[in-house]
Amino acid sequence: MLSIVASWALALVAVNAIPSPVDLRASRVERDLVRRDSRPTSYPANNFTQLIDHFPQSSRYEPHTNGTFTQRYFFDSTYYKDGGPVFLYIGGETSGESRFSNLETGIIQILMQEFNGLGVILENRYYGESYPFETTTTDELAYLTNEQTIADNAYFAQRATFPNVTGNLTAPNTPWILYGGSLAGAETAFSIVEYGGSGEKILYGGIASSAVVHAVHAYPQWYDPIQKLGPQDCIGRINDIVDSYDALVEANNTAAIQQLKELFGLQDLESDLDFAYTIALPIGGPDNYPLGTWQELNWNKSVSDPQWWYFCGNVTDDNAPANVTAGDSLLANYTDGKTLPGLGAYAAYFQQVYLPLCESGRYGSTDPGCFGTQNESYWNDTTPSTSRSYTYSTCTELGAYQQGQPEGKPSLLSRSITTSFTQQWVCTPTYSDRAGNQSPGPASSVQLDTDRWTNLTHYNKYGDLNITGERLAFIDGSSDVWLDVCYHSTLTNTSANRVANPNSNATAASEVEAYLINGGGHHWDSYGILDVDAEPDFIMQAHLWEIKVVKKWLDAFTSDWYKQ
Ligand SMILES: *[C@@H]1O[C@H](CO)[C@@H](O)[C@H](O)[C@H]1NC(C)=O
Ligand SMILES: *[C@@H]1O[C@H](CO)[C@@H](O)[C@H](O)[C@H]1NC(C)=O
Ligand SMILES: *[C@@H]1O[C@H](CO)[C@@H](O)[C@H](O)[C@H]1NC(C)=O
Ligand SMILES: *[C@@H]1O[C@H](CO)[C@@H](O)[C@H](O)[C@H]1NC(C)=O
Ligand SMILES: *[C@@H]1O[C@H](CO)[C@@H](O)[C@H](O)[C@H]1NC(C)=O
Ligand SMILES: *[C@@H]1O[C@H](CO)[C@@H](O)[C@H](O)[C@H]1NC(C)=O
Ligand SMILES: *[C@@H]1O[C@H](CO)[C@@H](O)[C@H](O)[C@H]1NC(C)=O
Ligand SMILES: *[C@@H]1O[C@H](CO)[C@@H](O)[C@H](O)[C@H]1NC(C)=O
Ligand SMILES: *[C@@H]1O[C@H](CO)[C@@H](O)[C@H](O)[C@H]1NC(C)=O
Ligand SMILES: *[C@@H]1O[C@H](CO)[C@@H](O)[C@H](O)[C@H]1NC(C)=O
Ligand SMILES: *[C@@H]1O[C@H](CO)[C@@H](O)[C@H](O)[C@H]1NC(C)=O
Ligand SMILES: *[C@@H]1O[C@H](CO)[C@@H](O)[C@H](O)[C@H]1NC(C)=O
Repeated sequence: MLSIVASWALALVAVNAIPSPVDLRASRVERDLVRRDSRPTSYPANNFTQLIDHFPQSSRYEPHTNGTFTQRYFFDSTYYKDGGPVFLYIGGETSGESRFSNLETGIIQILMQEFNGLGVILENRYYGESYPFETTTTDELAYLTNEQTIADNAYFAQRATFPNVTGNLTAPNTPWILYGGSLAGAETAFSIVEYGGSGEKILYGGIASSAVVHAVHAYPQWYDPIQKLGPQDCIGRINDIVDSYDALVEANNTAAIQQLKELFGLQDLESDLDFAYTIALPIGGPDNYPLGTWQELNWNKSVSDPQWWYFCGNVTDDNAPANVTAGDSLLANYTDGKTLPGLGAYAAYFQQVYLPLCESGRYGSTDPGCFGTQNESYWNDTTPSTSRSYTYSTCTELGAYQQGQPEGKPSLLSRSITTSFTQQWVCTPTYSDRAGNQSPGPASSVQLDTDRWTNLTHYNKYGDLNITGERLAFIDGSSDVWLDVCYHSTLTNTSANRVANPNSNATAASEVEAYLINGGGHHWDSYGILDVDAEPDFIMQAHLWEIKVVKKWLDAFTSDWYKQ
């Protein structure tokens, strides 16, 4: 309580001392006081009749269908006043319900309150309960593509109804402003490029947060912020352990590898690749991991998962008991007598925290929570699920497979893990029921990281890292593991490119609405605490900037904007 009072007071002082970018703060504080206790905490599902196939002319979707499916949406009209905008939260790769916090306390709440808007979450096709078919064979998944998903957004905005809200709030007569984070951020950006002011003029504007707009096969850069910004004693120890493991792999020292597996309690894992992948779980990787990593840290303590710090705390624990540190010498026979500080603690931590997640105790299996991957019938199970849908998109359009660093660069993941590891165990079975020319043949005999598997063009055609659009703002975090596939990527100096980009009408870099939150993680601006002024300064400033940008857009809105 004390700290809340203190930051509130500090924020009020700041208001007086420094003029805020927009003159909205006083009124916001007042409305906070009125509204705080009356926020909804749950939203009923509404049904929208959506087209399964928006592209009857495209050969990509043959055989075509005129079928429809029920797509769910959830809305909050508590701040809405006649003539207000609609803020569309893009659902992305999860259920609508798991996005509620964005209406309750997050960025949509902030924008709704500021602009008397209505907030709505549209559940992504093939997630939550918005599946077009009962099962998800690859033939049925064929309509799960980025272009179909963004077409849903435009089609919905033109036809949405909001029970109990008077008036017609459809686009383009009402300004619809999209917001999405991560994959949904990219979908926001692509929606605005395609259906915004410089496209079909349906969707008025959008904020793309940590939008992963760059599709790529291998994404070793996922580890770069952790490597650079994590505690270096912990990071250095893991780097040394990875180097030693990779040397054993290089030397085909199966006996030593087996000993190492035993130290982690993973002697059941027959595949060395599964072992390398599994011991990296506490650090994470783009595919999946069961507990919090660097990516799950957050400025907002109520949603932050501190597991990463526990992991590093264990690996660098000066008080680790002797029976734990004994593991540090396990590989001494193969490393000229050198010990590997932290190895014993790493393994003990893994045994304590990760092994119990595999309830069956069959660690090498694909049972829930277990660590095996080599089981085709698991991956080709067509029961609808988030992981099935996301995996399909990864294999066909997104890529970004985890991979160790090149030789000579410190790595947090064994270099034995390459893109083809993921593509073999995930993509091969996912495709294997697709008749005809996509039949992949034996995994070992095909060159997997080619466009036949993950056609990056479907995704990168909207501008890739050069992406721009009318009333399309980008906000990223400098310590986000996904930074290098986002607008502020360090992979390329794009500010010059954007101006020259033939897809852009921006004439100067100064017209590009973009913000990099210093020290920010993955779409950290999407979180809120019902009090912008009480937020940490770097988040508060990001939110004030977003409010300013949206205000500029809304001030310029005219009801016939789409005719211009
Ligand atoms: C939406 O559709 C589901 C499934 O058909 C149904 O159970 C539910 O009652 C519908 N909801 C509304 C608000 O119509
Ligand atoms: C969809 O409907 C249109 C118009 O009625 C028709 O021309 C077309 O053949 C139908 N497509 C399919 C796949 O049934
Ligand atoms: C609309 O209002 C009625 C009566 O107050 C209520 O029962 C119903 O749940 C409301 N519907 C929605 C979608 O909010
Ligand atoms: C809302 O307005 C649009 C455009 O004028 C119109 O096409 C649509 O039918 C209206 N929707 C409703 C539910 O009245
Ligand atoms: C650029 O502006 C022109 C003229 O307003 C318009 O026709 C064109 O579609 C715009 N292109 C893009 C990519 O924004
Ligand atoms: C690695 O060692 C195992 C067991 O000693 C042996 O069966 C296998 O052929 C070796 N592989 C290579 C690539 O040398
Ligand atoms: C070690 O990990 C456990 C389990 O997560 C955690 O409770 C403990 O605080 C960690 N120890 C240190 C020194 O960080
Ligand atoms: C170390 O010894 C303690 C106490 O006997 C025991 O609980 C723990 O499981 C042991 N840890 C390892 C890694 O052997
Ligand atoms: C290291 O080698 C020695 C001598 O061969 C052996 O006694 C010892 O058990 C080995 N240690 C480990 C951890 O393998
Ligand atoms: C799934 O994989 C198993 C094991 O390889 C295979 O027997 C089965 O035919 C596959 N099912 C489908 C639908 O591809
Ligand atoms: C990849 O997708 C693009 C555009 O979506 C298409 O033009 C191209 O033919 C595809 N490439 C392959 C190898 O299928
Ligand atoms: C971005 O634009 C520049 C300049 O037109 C071009 O050279 C570059 O290839 C583009 N990059 C991407 C990723 O499209």
